[in-house]
Amino acid sequence: MTPQFSSRDPNHPAFWDERFELGFTPWNRGAVPQALRDFVAQSKLTVEVVHNCLIPGCGHAYELGFLSEAGWQVTAIDFSSSAVATAKSQVGKWAGRVQQADFFEFITDSPLSLIYERAFFCALPPAMRSAVVKRWALLLPSGGKLLGFFLLDDTEAVSKKGPPFRTNLQDFKTLMQPYFVCLEDADVSDSLAVFEGKERWQVWQRL
Ligand SMILES: C[S@@+](CC[C@H](N)C(=O)[O-])C[C@H]1O[C@@H](n2cnc3c(N)ncnc32)[C@H](O)[C@@H]1O
Repeated sequence: MTPQFSSRDPNHPAFWDERFELGFTPWNRGAVPQALRDFVAQSKLTVEVVHNCLIPGCGHAYELGFLSEAGWQVTAIDFSSSAVATAKSQVGKWAGRVQQADFFEFITDSPLSLIYERAFFCALPPAMRSAVVKRWALLLPSGGKLLGFFLLDDTEAVSKKGPPFRTNLQDFKTLMQPYFVCLEDADVSDSLAVFEGKERWQVWQRL
């Protein structure tokens, strides 16, 4: 049963604090998605540099330990103190890599090569989309990659009900194309029910 929430605006940390505190996190995968595992396996074969990766809106941060164990430098950020506490309590020795920070204000100490996206873009209301894309573009140098899972839909122009908020495929391309080129776009085989059939695995490269 869905609890009664007092906070209704996903732009504010209080919205997310309340949900983490009540244990109502239906987006939580509780495991590392297969497409990310495949990307890491592939990049071990082809890339010699250590990736410096940001995970914005990390929530439970299940991917943090996996990517860190793969030898990547990883920073997981979330603006909800309850999300940060939850993540720190479950990532063991990687807890120092979780920071409380607002994505729109976060500045990295060392240049990023990757940003990992899952259920962050779709967590924010449609009015925030352009700002998120511009921030991705600002944080990544030319050649850097944005990769992960995107909730896309070709049946409606804008999803007003959420989170999660689905984005029209063409609208998403229009937002991205001034800054990024799409290198990969694939179905997702292991989506949670809440995302099933609408989730795409994509890799975008910064122009
Ligand atoms: C739907 S959850 C997804 C969590 C995680 N990425 C996952 O896949 O389970 C969205 C997360 O984004 C965080 N968030 C929303 N706006 C944020 C912002 N401006 N800066 C940092 N984190 C934010 C929320 O606190 C919440 O933990």
